[in-house]
Order: sequence, then structure tokens, then C-alpha cells
Amino acid sequence: MLEALQAYRERGYTPFNPPGHRQGRGADPRVLEILGEAVFAADVISVNGLDDRLNRQGVIEEAQQLMAEAVGAEQAFFSTCGSSLSVKSAMLSVAGPHEKLIVPRHVHKSVISGLILSGVSPVWLSPHWDAERHLSHPPGVDEVRELFEAEPEAKGMLLVTPNDYGTCGDIAAIAEVCHEFGKPLIVDEAWGAHLPFHGDLPPWGMDANADVVVTSVHKSGAAVEQSSVFHMQGDLVDPNVLKAREDLLATTSPTSLVYATLDGWRRHMVQHGEGLLTAALALAHSTRAAINDLPGLRVMGEAEFLGEKLAKSLDPLKMVIDLTGLGISGYQAADWLREHQRVTVGLSDHRRVVAQFTHADDHRTAGILLDALGALVKAADEMQTPPPVDLPSPEDLQLETAMLPRDAFFAEVEQVGADQAIGRICAEMVTPYPPGAPAILPGEVITEEVVDYVRSGLNAGMQLPDPADSELKTFRVVARKP
Ligand SMILES: Cc1ncc(COP(=O)(O)O)c(C=O)c1O
Repeated sequence: MLEALQAYRERGYTPFNPPGHRQGRGADPRVLEILGEAVFAADVISVNGLDDRLNRQGVIEEAQQLMAEAVGAEQAFFSTCGSSLSVKSAMLSVAGPHEKLIVPRHVHKSVISGLILSGVSPVWLSPHWDAERHLSHPPGVDEVRELFEAEPEAKGMLLVTPNDYGTCGDIAAIAEVCHEFGKPLIVDEAWGAHLPFHGDLPPWGMDANADVVVTSVHKSGAAVEQSSVFHMQGDLVDPNVLKAREDLLATTSPTSLVYATLDGWRRHMVQHGEGLLTAALALAHSTRAAINDLPGLRVMGEAEFLGEKLAKSLDPLKMVIDLTGLGISGYQAADWLREHQRVTVGLSDHRRVVAQFTHADDHRTAGILLDALGALVKAADEMQTPPPVDLPSPEDLQLETAMLPRDAFFAEVEQVGADQAIGRICAEMVTPYPPGAPAILPGEVITEEVVDYVRSGLNAGMQLPDPADSELKTFRVVARKP
């Protein structure tokens, strides 16, 4: 992709086709001042731009094939709309309207959007819940087997691993069960794009025999936001079907900026990934120990996360920092770190923040994190006690499904007060973000416990971007028939 971009420049084409900015010439100087000319110069159309009118050079195909070879997949496809799109394409390649797909209940909201758009009927799989720490891990192999036995017509299953906390499921064992039943396994590995490139990281989907694996390279790799790849192998999913279904959702104008950064990252990892990730792992290891030396802070690890009914392995580059000892919430800590230390973190919840390390981090950035956390420890005494979040038990989080997500979402709806919403069928998603797994889905019966959870969460600083009423005084529910 980079060579094609360079060749495009050297040949000096004069385009009369998109993009209309004409390599930045048409961009407002105030835009160029901030973004720089290089961004526009890297944004070239594929058809009759980077490649010819019939894509005869096969530029993108070659880049995708190189990606597949780099990570040990049979095929790889680039996507410019994040794993949010890739995961939908992957689901659609396995199941169609009213067909069943086994889906863990803690999936990212993009999977739920896929269910709503497609009309695929979810067979809910319970994740492994850690009630004490209030977080979920990928489900285990026994639960998967039970569900395939109970729902033999399910077309396949989707697994999310790693999750936003970096905890991973046993992909190989789950793939084996899926294949015993002749069904494909899709892995939403949005958080695992780096996993193929180092042996000390948890196994990644293609190595563990999954059929389709989706990664967000922008999350843990070095490609720009929205860059995603889906990979496939085996004969349970037809690549032509996957491509055709992806085409239903994808843009017809992918930017070469995303593709070139994806392709460049692939080369970087093939040539230097092992060394870079070895350094990142060592840095994460020493930083973890240094954070644990700070009073009131603990980086959660194997002791908390691994076990038979918990996770199988974890990504050591995710620093899940428990703030319970400081008596503050993750929301307070994240806001304070950003405002007072200019340090930003990923996930924050009622008691934790997650700092993610990548191959781009070094002793300087780790030092900044440590200094900022040291300052947080000192400042915590002055912070107000956080409002409590009414955390439901794992059982209370399993809401009854009364309608298909699609049918409820597109039904006639009404907006009713929180009290009246209890017992009604929800018509919207209500998602604490991050990690982005909806607490309430369209089609589920709303309960008092879950209403208390999201409303107390909102009051404590939780972000809930989906509901029509952002104050959660009212909820969107399926209208009652007159
Ligand atoms: C588990 C999971 N899947 C899918 C996605 C969507 O990925 P993207 O942001 O690349 O669209 C996310 C985003 O956070 C995620 O956490």
C-alpha cells in the first residue's frame, strides 16, 4: 500500500475523481495547519487512483494476502469501519434472519447492532461472572457444549476474547466443541490485534483454530482509528459469502490512509514485532510492580482473574488498576488524571481504571503514568466519597428476553418514566461505555435492579451513550397494544 501510494505520487496524476480535496490542495489552510498536508496526501481513492480502473495491480489483495501470511490465516480482509463493522460482517456470514447464533450476553454493542440489523436470533450464553469484583470473563467450554446440545440448530457461535479488561477465554477448547458440532467459531478479538506477534501473549484465534477472527488494529496496533481486519480459515465459512455480506455494510470509498497504516503495521510487526513486544512486556511487568508499590493501588492479575469459572489467560499489557484502597471510583480517577496530569486511560468503572500498554510505550511514558498515579494517590484523600453504584448480582443482570432485539427495536415505542418502565419490554440499548456491553437490550424485560444499576451508575459518572433520554428519567419501551 505504501509503495502504491509512493508510485501514485511519483507518477504525478491529476485527479478529476474523488477525493475532492485533491491531495490537500482544496483543504482550508486552517485545517492543514492542524492536520498537516501528509494526511490528505495519504488519502487516495483505490479504484482509478492507487490502482487502475479494474484494480488490475491487485494492490489491496496483495496487502491483504501479506496480512494473512503474517498472522497465519488463510485469508484476511481489511475494513475501514472498525471491528464494529467487521464483527457484523462475520456474524452475517454465519447466520441470516431468524437463524440462531450462540452469543455471550456480555458482547460489545456492535454485535447487538448486528443482531438488530440482521434479525439473527441470539441464543444467549452466560459469561463467567466474577460477582465479587463485578466483571465478566469469556464463557467456558462446558457452557458452550451444553448450549450446542440444547440448540442444535444454532448456526455457530461468537466469542469475545480478550475483553476490555484483557482477560481471555479458552479459544482452542471452544473451537474444538464448535467443530465437533460442525459449527464455525467467530472470535471478536478487537482487543487482540497484537497477539499473533509474540509467543508470551495469550493464544490468538487463528492459532487456536477459530474460523473467523476480527481484530481492531487501532486498539493495540499502530494503524489509525477505524482500522480493522477480519481473518478466516477452514471451510465452515465461505469467503465469498463473507465478502458479499461485508459488502452490504462497508463503504465503497475506503481510505488509503487506513489501508496504508494497516499494511505498514503488518510489515513492522513481521520484521520487528517480537523485539518490540518483548520490550513492551518487560516494561508492563516492571510498571505493574511499581504501581503495586503505591499505597492504595493494586494492578489486578492472575490471582484475581484466572481460575476455572473465571478466565483462562490474560493480556499482561493491560494494567487493570483497582482503586478500592483509595476509596475513589474509576470515573473520578480517570477524570482527575486527565484534568490534572494530562494522562488519559481506557476503561473506567466503579472501582477501576485500565491503562493499556502497546509496543509504542517506553520508560518515559511508563514514568509519566507512575508519577500521575503517585499524584492521584496523594490527591485521593481530598476527593469526595463517590456516589454508590447499585451493582446487581450476575443473576439480576440476566434479563428475560421477550422479543427478538430487531422486533423490539423497530416496534412502536413509547417513552415512559423509570418506575413505569419496570416490567416493560425495552426498545433501546442501555450501555455502560466502556466496556460497551449493554446492560439492557431491545427485547429484554426491564427490572428494578437493572434500572437502579444504570441510574446509580449515571449518577456516579458512568457513561451511557445510547438511551434516548440521556438522564435516564425515562426509558424507551415497546408500546402496549391498545
Ligand atoms: C469487544 C469489542 N468488540 C468490538 C468493538 C468495536 O471495535 P471498533 O472500535 O474497532 O469498531 C469493541 C470496541 O471497543 C470492543 O471492545
